[in-house]
Order: sequence, then structure tokens, then C-alpha cells
Amino acid sequence: MSTGTTKNGFEKPPEAAQTEQNGAAQHRMDLGQTRLGPSFRYDLRSPDMAKLDRFIVENPIRDWSVVTWKDVGRPFRVENYASGKRVWEEQNGDRMPIQTSWEMFNRSFHSWFVKDVPHEQRRMVGQFARAILGFRGAEIGSLLGDLQQIALWNTAHRLTDTIWDPRGKRALFRGLDVNRPRILFLGAAEGYEAMQLFAMYPGGEAVLVDYDAFCQTHRFGEFPEDYPFLGVNPKTGSPCAWYKGDMNLAYLVSDIRQLPFRHEFDIVISVGLLEHFPDEYKPECLEWHRKFLKPGGYAILTTPHHSWKTRLFYHIMGEAMNYTYRELMSVQQMGLYMYENGFNILRHGYIKTHNGVIARAR
Ligand SMILES: C[S@@+](CC[C@H](N)C(=O)[O-])C[C@H]1O[C@@H](n2cnc3c(N)ncnc32)[C@H](O)[C@@H]1O
Repeated sequence: MSTGTTKNGFEKPPEAAQTEQNGAAQHRMDLGQTRLGPSFRYDLRSPDMAKLDRFIVENPIRDWSVVTWKDVGRPFRVENYASGKRVWEEQNGDRMPIQTSWEMFNRSFHSWFVKDVPHEQRRMVGQFARAILGFRGAEIGSLLGDLQQIALWNTAHRLTDTIWDPRGKRALFRGLDVNRPRILFLGAAEGYEAMQLFAMYPGGEAVLVDYDAFCQTHRFGEFPEDYPFLGVNPKTGSPCAWYKGDMNLAYLVSDIRQLPFRHEFDIVISVGLLEHFPDEYKPECLEWHRKFLKPGGYAILTTPHHSWKTRLFYHIMGEAMNYTYRELMSVQQMGLYMYENGFNILRHGYIKTHNGVIARAR
């Protein structure tokens, strides 16, 4: 297990010198503003907590004890795997190990987050035009697929921000009864949601865990220093922007099954983890969330919401995304998995593309 450096964001006010050293200061925006960059959207809109209701669809089930699988149905399974997985399995004559499939997924997914999308689109259109003029049929077909993917990525991630979805995440995370919480992020990848939580509930610590070292060095390591997370200034209680470099974050490269922690976290969160476990393994995945929580602590889980939009996304982006077992589910299905595995559901709903559940261990 290796440990990243920690910095204490609480002792330094958010607008302190640290962000000026790391370049974030050059891109400061005022609260309430949004700006489109070449790879992603900067978004400091909606500082008012009350207005966040608009960004989450809550359709509450009041009594989970009466909900059955017959009522809610079963998740949809995504089965169009990336060719990289098939090739690996042919070459190795074996099923790809789960950790290897995550390693391939993370490298592929990261390559999308760091793209200068307008530049890539222009480059591809030029290549496409040359392929047409040269009557290169096979190249035309493959470039058409690439153009479709980049157009979808541009809309889904860069223009409409459906993956990071800061306003939806803040709507889901709001109103927790915590003070300077210790936050544990299981399968953290780039750590986005731990940073959003830290900004909203500053002063504690977030521990990010992923067994793929590339996530620490690249997905988190290269996460933009100038990305503003809308949160609160602990000194004044007023809204302010937090930056990665100002937060107290530790990154552990470790298998979740080997973590040394006890019941010591106020919040345990995962984003896009539960849906990667077939039903017989879901109890183990849910136990990972329970075993590190303090009594009364919050488990926060999100999974992709089953809709035509997410089906289309995983269909078109299959080459980039589908290395692992994956389900798409409704928030009712997700809540029922959690309820049946010993959690009381405090809030459940869906944001742009993910279901979100806030729960406590029974
Ligand atoms: C689907 S990703 C999470 C989604 C994430 N928000 C993203 O953008 O990719 C799940 C992450 O969990 C990690 N992971 C899966 N099983 C793990 C385990 N047993 N221990 C540690 N990390 C694990 C993977 O390496 C991967 O980075």
C-alpha cells in the first residue's frame, strides 16, 4: 500500500496561497458562473443549497420492507464488450482477471477526460475528408465510429456535464449531519466525489482508495488543479470554491479487501462500483461500505441510472468503457439491494445519469 501526501485545507482558507502556486488562481471564476473549457465544464452555478432540489429526482419509497423484486424488476446487463478485452482473452486463453479489466478501463477512460475535444473533432473531420477523397472504405467506416464517439463524449461530458454533474452531486450530498468528517472513497478512480464532499463539509480528511496505481498517478494525479468545487468556507460559512490542492486528501493504492481500517469513517462513498458485481457478490460489496463506517455514519452509493440515454452511452462508448461486468439499474432496484443487505435508506433519487442513495447501517 502506498500513501499520497496530505494537505490540510482547513488550516488554510480556500482562497489561500496554495492555489496560486499551482496555477488554479489564473482561472478563478466568480460564484454563480460557468465556463466551457476544451475538456470539461467549470461550474460554480447554484451556490444556494435550497435551489439544488431541481437537480435531483426524488420519488420516495417510504417503506422498503414492502418492496419486492417482482415490483421493481431486475437490472439490465451491458454485454457489448470492448475489443481489447476479447483480444486479451483470445491471446491468453483465459477470462481477463477483474483487476486487469479495471486497469484497461482506467487507461481508456482517462484518455477521454484529457482530450482537447474541439481540437480532436477538427483533426478527425480532416482525416475523414482525406479518407473520402482517397476512397478508403475501411478507414471511412472506422472514422465514422470515432466521430460518433467524440460527438457523444462532447455532449455528455463536456457540454452537459452528465458524468461529473456537480449540481446533481451537491443535491445528493446536501444536508448531512457531519462536522469535519473523515471520508472514505472506495474505488476512487480520479476522486471527484470525495473532493466535492470535502468542499461541502471541509475540515476533515478524505481517503481515496483504488487498487489501480494508474488512478493515483494519472486519473487523480492529473485531475485539473484549476477545477473549482463549490463548497463552503468553514471560517465564514459562506459559499466558496475549493481546489484539489487545498484539500486534505490521501490516496491509497490498495485492494479494498486489504484495508487496515475499522469502524472509523463518517462517510463511506462509492461511485459506479455496486453495478459491477453480479448478484451473488453484491452482499460482499455492500459489506465493504458498512465495515468502515462509524455508528450512525453515512454510506453514499451511486450507480448509472437505467434509461435510454445510459443504454445509448454504453452502446456507443463500448470500446472505451466496457471491460468489466456492468449492470444498469433503477434507483428502486439499487435501494432494494441496499435495504436487503442491512441498510436503512435515508435519501434516494437520481441525478443526470446516476442513481444516488444515502443510507445508514441498520
Ligand atoms: C467504475 S470505477 C468507478 C467509477 C469512477 N467514478 C470512474 O470515473 O471511473 C471503479 C474503480 O474501482 C476500482 N476497484 C474495483 N475493485 C476494487 C478493489 N477490490 N479494490 C480497490 N479498488 C477497486 C477500479 O480500479 C476502478 O478504478
